[in-house]
Amino acid sequence: MTDQAKVRVLLLESIHPDAVSRLETAGYQVESVRNALDEVELIERIKGVHLLGVRSKTQVTAKVLEAADSLVAIGAFCIGTDQIDLAAASQAGIAVFNAPFSNTRSVVELALAEIIAMTRRLTEKNNLMHEGVWDKAAVGSHEVRGRRLGIVGYGNIGTQLSVLAENLGMHVSFYDTADKLALGNAQRCASMDELLETSDVVTLHVDGRPGNAGFFGAEQFARMRPGAIFLNLSRGIVVDHVALRESLASGHLVGAAVDVFPTEPKGRGDEFVSELRGLPNVILTPHIGGSTEEAQSDIGDFVANKLALFVREGNTTLSVNLPSIALPSATGMSRIIHVHLNMPGVLAQVNSILAEHSVNVEGQLLSTRGEYGYLITDIGGSYSADVLDQLRAMSQTVRLRVLS
Ligand SMILES: NC(=O)c1ccc[n+]([C@@H]2O[C@H](COP(=O)([O-])OP(=O)(O)OC[C@H]3O[C@@H](n4cnc5c(N)ncnc54)[C@H](O)[C@@H]3O)[C@@H](O)[C@H]2O)c1
Repeated sequence: MTDQAKVRVLLLESIHPDAVSRLETAGYQVESVRNALDEVELIERIKGVHLLGVRSKTQVTAKVLEAADSLVAIGAFCIGTDQIDLAAASQAGIAVFNAPFSNTRSVVELALAEIIAMTRRLTEKNNLMHEGVWDKAAVGSHEVRGRRLGIVGYGNIGTQLSVLAENLGMHVSFYDTADKLALGNAQRCASMDELLETSDVVTLHVDGRPGNAGFFGAEQFARMRPGAIFLNLSRGIVVDHVALRESLASGHLVGAAVDVFPTEPKGRGDEFVSELRGLPNVILTPHIGGSTEEAQSDIGDFVANKLALFVREGNTTLSVNLPSIALPSATGMSRIIHVHLNMPGVLAQVNSILAEHSVNVEGQLLSTRGEYGYLITDIGGSYSADVLDQLRAMSQTVRLRVLS
């Protein structure tokens, strides 16, 4: 698959036009389909396709991958990859890419908007105005400048929020279970309790690992300062909403913003059911933290770029399923990509095949991840087809690609 003109791309679920143009600019033949395809339809359409792009609705099952005779990579033009059978993709040596960072800025901006809105009690003022009540009282309304923001989970989103909140004049504390570098003047807390007891606003940005289910409940709300504000834009399962309702109803907390829920309606017409409905100074949003046009465009661009680089250079940086590896490409070389089972002696065997055929290795990089290894070997000059046949015949070989 070295001839760019022959690279066929199938994009499903109305993937952003930026992705289409990025892939067309690479010289690929791109077909963009409006809807998701079911398994049977996808099995029919996948033959001869080198790159597949999906969003969250299309299920890329083991059967689909079995029928995919030419597929080298899948782009998940979203954050999650649950819709793709990753084990089956790895087994076939197919790389899967997603866009883990593309919507983080959007989440951060929503969190900041909500922190300001709740600290100024905007939702209550707005509701009163709609009821014809003109209430200019400043009581309970504050500037965010000088207040302390406690960030639980200092990852991609938490760290960006830390920087922007400091720019607004907030003091920032954070707590993370992993060792994290404090950005700017942010203060690391040794325990979550320390953060809860000292923050005016507490915001959760943890990931959805199983251990986090229900980790924030009555005990944690009780630890928060009276008059504090709470936000959750991470995962619905991490917070006990009954306990949150009680903390708000008792007046212990004065506001909350929640974007994610333990169970969320499947479609547009389905009723949203939650303990948090109908409370004053509570902002409820339908899981839109990352839903902006900018994030969609960034996802399109980011994933399309990953796919194009993978076709051209074989690099797997940020792949969800294959070992992550990046070897700068050099001109005038052939690049052999060898996806293999992670077993002792594979590298030695590959190199002895190359040596037996007097092939000179100009550059080489190996990385492993779980059951699989990914080896890039750059060679200069010509070599016989026998080299590739012998590499393909190795019992550990999962897939061999040659780029030139
Ligand atoms: N609302 C939305 O639309 C939306 C959009 C994007 C991401 N998210 C969610 O936001 C969350 C954060 O995303 P991210 O990209 O910053 O993730 P990330 O993986 O970069 O960061 C998560 C951080 O939380 C830490 N952590 C995990 N469990 C913890 C715990 N119990 N206590 C303290 N720290 C803990 C991890 O060590 C990590 O540093 C994720 O759950 C993600 O699914 C929501």
